[in-house]
Amino acid sequence: MSKAISNGPPPHPETLAVGHGYDPMAAGGAAKPPAYMTSTFVYPSAAEAKRLHEAFFDGVENGATGHIYGRLGHPGLDIVEARLAALDGGEDAACFASGMAAITAILLAFLAPGDVVLHSRPLYGGTEALLAGEVARLGIKSVGFRNGVDRQPLAVDAERAMAEGSVGVIWVETPANPTATIVDIALVLAIAEDIARAQGRRPLVCVDNTFLGPFMQNPLALGADLCMTSLTKYAGGHCDLLAGGVSGSIALISRLKMVRTLFGSTLDAHTAWLLARSFETMSLRNERAAENAAKIAALLRDHPKVASVTYLGFTPPGTSARAVFERQCRGTGSTFSFRIRGDEAAAFRLLDALKVLRLAVSLGGTETLICHPASTTHYAVPRERREEVGIDDATLRISVGIEHVEDLAADLVQALEAV
Ligand SMILES: Cc1ncc(COP(=O)(O)O)c(C=O)c1O
Repeated sequence: MSKAISNGPPPHPETLAVGHGYDPMAAGGAAKPPAYMTSTFVYPSAAEAKRLHEAFFDGVENGATGHIYGRLGHPGLDIVEARLAALDGGEDAACFASGMAAITAILLAFLAPGDVVLHSRPLYGGTEALLAGEVARLGIKSVGFRNGVDRQPLAVDAERAMAEGSVGVIWVETPANPTATIVDIALVLAIAEDIARAQGRRPLVCVDNTFLGPFMQNPLALGADLCMTSLTKYAGGHCDLLAGGVSGSIALISRLKMVRTLFGSTLDAHTAWLLARSFETMSLRNERAAENAAKIAALLRDHPKVASVTYLGFTPPGTSARAVFERQCRGTGSTFSFRIRGDEAAAFRLLDALKVLRLAVSLGGTETLICHPASTTHYAVPRERREEVGIDDATLRISVGIEHVEDLAADLVQALEAV
């Protein structure tokens, strides 16, 4: 663990990201955490084995510490979970094999047939497909809301959700993928209290924090119950791993860890090691990417072949969304979408003309990625539902990386000629 600075202020997130959760003396003095490449752990004795199982499965506080089997937990997982919890401001965290594994665990751990999910729109295509498909198949309905910054319309959608069943989870993706649409987390919490009064059960408020991450937005500090992050994106940061994380109270995270053990969606040892290492440079990468993104967004906004840019920094002053952005976020991130003046064919011509930017889904890596959401990330979302939330054939999503911004700008300008 990172040592507390006696009588001093708590360490800053940048400091926690580098060392928190790892004690070199627990690993023979290794300055950096080893990768514990083992699937199982040797018990010191039969009696200790029993005590470890009692502690893990029944929460018996018998002082047993150690690991049992990699699917239940392992030292690399302890490190990344401590680090993520510290960055998110949670009591604990649970890490999973992907963001989708984390989302699935939350929904299946806290919902039952007959329950309803009230959720923001748009959502990441995978989340939307999960709710509309597998989760719906279990008898759990979903009701979406598009305005998450004004009380009256959100209250109407909450009534609509309650008419369908018991609202168990409010799922909020803010800013949303790919439109950067903002939801007011404090407002959603107030609505959760209204729902609790009406139905006698307080829904869990879960925030997908993937688009900004812990250095730019802390949903738990605003009162959310769970903060879910696809760590594949900015935390992993190099487009070379898949991981998901959830932070929150010890009680909620313990339940998720138990579900994870049974689903078998635990983050593996090698990926945990990569992730611990990536956390160390996350704030630096975030800063450079955000600086580049601001310049690229401005370039696109001023380009004659671009119809519109949905970049957080351009949220119009004087609007509810702007007020929420200023209250809730500490940065503009580096992923946004823009619409070209043209159709799908024109969008494809632009993508195929790029030489530096890479045509791929995902976001938050060191390299700049661009994609056509309608035919890729949001392929599974029906056209009508996509278009309602502003994802049409002219929409492109860009995740700006940390390359030299002039190279990115030059590449985009030459490719826009093809539109
Ligand atoms: C906002 C958001 N949430 C969740 C996910 C799912 O994460 P993963 O791909 O790690 O499963 C993604 C992936 O793109 C995402 O963009």
